[in-house]
Amino acid sequence: MHEVKEFSSTKGLKGISDKTNEIHHGKLYTGYVNKRNEVEEKLGGLAQEDWKAANQVFSKLRGLKHEETFAANGMILHEIFYGILGGDGNPEGTKVKEAIEKEWGSWEAFVTQFSACGMVARGWAILAYDPSDKKLHIYCADAQNQGGVWGSVPLVTLDVYEHAYMIDFGADRPSYIKAFLENIDWKKVDERWERVTGNK
Ligand SMILES: [Fe+2]
Repeated sequence: MHEVKEFSSTKGLKGISDKTNEIHHGKLYTGYVNKRNEVEEKLGGLAQEDWKAANQVFSKLRGLKHEETFAANGMILHEIFYGILGGDGNPEGTKVKEAIEKEWGSWEAFVTQFSACGMVARGWAILAYDPSDKKLHIYCADAQNQGGVWGSVPLVTLDVYEHAYMIDFGADRPSYIKAFLENIDWKKVDERWERVTGNK
């Protein structure tokens, strides 16, 4: 059973209202956790005839297996999203800032490119560390279970589904992205970075 996690960042963010987070965390994120549990329970309870009827066009197993990844990634990406918010957006003094500057040439270049990726993605823009090449990447996902690279560990997950900003910013996604960046707690990102890379 997966449990719904609570985050202090669901209240008091700058520019992103408590009302948005009430819906985003309380209904949508919570919904992913509940659906992940439901899907896993249904997979566990499949009958012999369901396993025998496995089919790539349509089958009960296919439906559950597809939605299993959508629900699981919805849970995980939102937990990172809320887990790294609640700060002042200042990355000074963090190791991950040094790594970002090394990869993108400057902090400003990273912010520009990360923000632009937030404009092209239909679901998520993700700063991730890939152990296979030991580099940082920005990946764009149109859905939770699409656009990820196996083995990569998400460090910053920018949710650009409209539910994340429509109440506060209307269709003004750039202002939402700016607000998101201003609320990042880079010390928390740094902790994630240290955990996955061993860099201290
Ligand atoms: Fe979301």
